[in-house]
Amino acid sequence: MSDAVEVAIEEAQERYPQGAELARKLCAVGPLVSGSIPWLLRERSEAFWPMADRLANLSRRLEGSPIESLAEYTVMYLKEQMTFERTGKYSNTDFDEVYKAVYDNPEVMRRFYLEGLMLTHAFWPIHLDIHLFFDEHFLPLVPPAGEGLEVGFGHGLYICDVLKRHPGARTRSFDISQHAREFATRVLQLEGIESDRFALEAADIRQPLPVEARSQEWAVFAEVLEHIPDPQAALHELSRVLAPGAPLFTTTVLNSNAIDHLHQFADAAEVRGMIAKAGFEVVEERVLAVKDYVSNSNDPTVDLAYVCRRAT
Ligand SMILES: C[S@@+](CC[C@H](N)C(=O)[O-])C[C@H]1O[C@@H](n2cnc3c(N)ncnc32)[C@H](O)[C@@H]1O
Repeated sequence: MSDAVEVAIEEAQERYPQGAELARKLCAVGPLVSGSIPWLLRERSEAFWPMADRLANLSRRLEGSPIESLAEYTVMYLKEQMTFERTGKYSNTDFDEVYKAVYDNPEVMRRFYLEGLMLTHAFWPIHLDIHLFFDEHFLPLVPPAGEGLEVGFGHGLYICDVLKRHPGARTRSFDISQHAREFATRVLQLEGIESDRFALEAADIRQPLPVEARSQEWAVFAEVLEHIPDPQAALHELSRVLAPGAPLFTTTVLNSNAIDHLHQFADAAEVRGMIAKAGFEVVEERVLAVKDYVSNSNDPTVDLAYVCRRAT
């Protein structure tokens, strides 16, 4: 750990004790897992420390293993990405196989995936920036007492932040993985969300959701488009359930392999085209390329994030 990083962590200790402790331990593991910390402290320290402290605290109360889960999630990503850089193709072609190997597999979801992905919202610069984009541009568009949904909520952080920001809001949200439903329920409880404000249920976005047309006042569909064989059909389904003018937050990736990625988008224009075809207008877009964060990186990953509105 460099002197500058050590000093910054020391300074954060009093105000963000759990975040500082986790950052210190991650630095001891080595650069594969903590390589982004110097950048986060230099470029995003104001946003990084509250998020790192919040998530470290959540991990502790979930009785998780934050160092192991973030390390395993990161290594899993790097391995798959190296394969992609060699072959130009994602590893998976069959959703049902991914369901068995990942979403329905406690050895993956409970051991590292859900907690690891949750922690990337502080410790991976692009994921932190996407979360900040969500806070700044999506949350203000959610009606104060709106009923809405997230599909594929995973750890549940986005649902949590909608419900915290809008105390009159409620949700009936969906994920195909029972492990995600259990994990996100604990996260919402630990974050103090009253149980009558959320229902986390099983549904598969490849099928129609058990939701009335035009009944939802907001929707989140983050990091799922690339996980399903027909992202266009999923966007149409979200368009069906959203009220005219309702906001949608969605994200996806280009050139980024993972143990559960299936659909390889060609470029941002393809994603924008699908969003428009499903009846959404893009209000804000972020294009976040790894090479813009890490100098000299050959990693071709680009994350895309959109705040949209359903056409009226
Ligand atoms: C990468 S995580 C995204 C979590 C969170 N939305 C985020 O942005 O960090 C993908 C989630 O989508 C869920 N999922 C994948 N395919 C799905 C499907 N066909 N229908 C519903 N949920 C699905 C998985 O179980 C997992 O929890």
